[in-house]
Amino acid sequence: MTNGNEMQPLLEVKDLQALLPTHRGLVKAVDRVSLRLQRGKTLGIVGESGCGKSMLARAIMGLLPTGSIVSSQSIVTFDGRNLVGMKKAQLRQIIGREIAMVFQDPMTSLNPVMKVGRQIAEVISYHLKEGKRTARKRAVALLDLVGIPMADQRADQYPHQLSGGLRQRVAIAIALACEPKLLIADEPTTALDVTVQATILDLLASLQQEKRMAMILITHDFGVVAGRTDETAVMVAGQIVEYAATGDLFRQMRMPYTRALMAAIPRLANRPHTKLRTINGQPPDMVDLPLGCRFASRCWKAQPLCRGKEPALKRINGRGHKLACWYPLESGKNA
Ligand SMILES: Nc1ncnc2c1ncn2[C@@H]1O[C@H](COP(=O)(O)OP(=O)(O)O)[C@@H](O)[C@H]1O
Ligand code: SF4
Ligand SMILES: [Mg+2]
Repeated sequence: MTNGNEMQPLLEVKDLQALLPTHRGLVKAVDRVSLRLQRGKTLGIVGESGCGKSMLARAIMGLLPTGSIVSSQSIVTFDGRNLVGMKKAQLRQIIGREIAMVFQDPMTSLNPVMKVGRQIAEVISYHLKEGKRTARKRAVALLDLVGIPMADQRADQYPHQLSGGLRQRVAIAIALACEPKLLIADEPTTALDVTVQATILDLLASLQQEKRMAMILITHDFGVVAGRTDETAVMVAGQIVEYAATGDLFRQMRMPYTRALMAAIPRLANRPHTKLRTINGQPPDMVDLPLGCRFASRCWKAQPLCRGKEPALKRINGRGHKLACWYPLESGKNA
């Protein structure tokens, strides 16, 4: 069922703000985030660990931890409907069916004591009201689609009988079971062996094209979005600070933080023996955020203005490149 106009973005997030309670106070995990995603397109969300990527995904789906507060101006329009404030029962019809999710650890979405084929079949029966036999047939077809050999036999195995890579393929099969319009993949390969990572990412990309799904690919590793996403949003401490077509971002990133993240891309040749490179210094305290730019304490270009006033996210060219920085890197020079 499509409620929205085909010309409208499938997903439009405006000023989304989510506050999470902790014993130290409220964490502004998602702070006035806006983004758009067209049908069939892929958006990468990149940022350091703890910057709010997972909470952004959960805020979009209305699945935040208990006690979280979503501010009243937040709007999440999905296929013509605002998901913010939607009744739980109505949301349940959308999540898992129209919007599906793949997590870093496949075991979070798999039931350890149920055969994998049955787990997929149950999703199909629940959402699509199919009978047992049809659901089983579709489950096996899905296992085959995600590249699991001998799908018929594998369907009768339990998650612990499968390797990490196969388990993630099963999780992808569950996510695809109802042909969602949007797939959110949250660090889908971070927990996997390095040799399996690229195959899973390529699988997601080809399925996404084949099914014309929109996809949000969340990662801390710029290497993951390269060549696999149409647009990329870069996050620091709950906010988007740079947003551009992925090719433009790789050619001419303008935000110092983006460059620092890019420099931290783990090189395949280095892994797995070298430690993951991270940006020097600590990200800001999410309970007590600084007044100005949230990267200022670690930025080599920081000036007094950066510490005194928050730079707003502004469009800098006709191609939709957006940036929140007082002293951006020079265009084309990356200096
Ligand atoms: N259940 C929770 N309750 C309160 N705060 C949380 C919870 N989960 C995460 N946070 C905080 O929210 C912020 C964003 O976390 P998260 O979205 O998980 O980051 P990322 O996915 O980018 O690593 C972090 O500061 C984290 O400490
Ligand atoms: S606003 Fe200032 S501190 Fe922040 S990234 Fe830009 S130059 Fe660096
Ligand atoms: Mg996360």
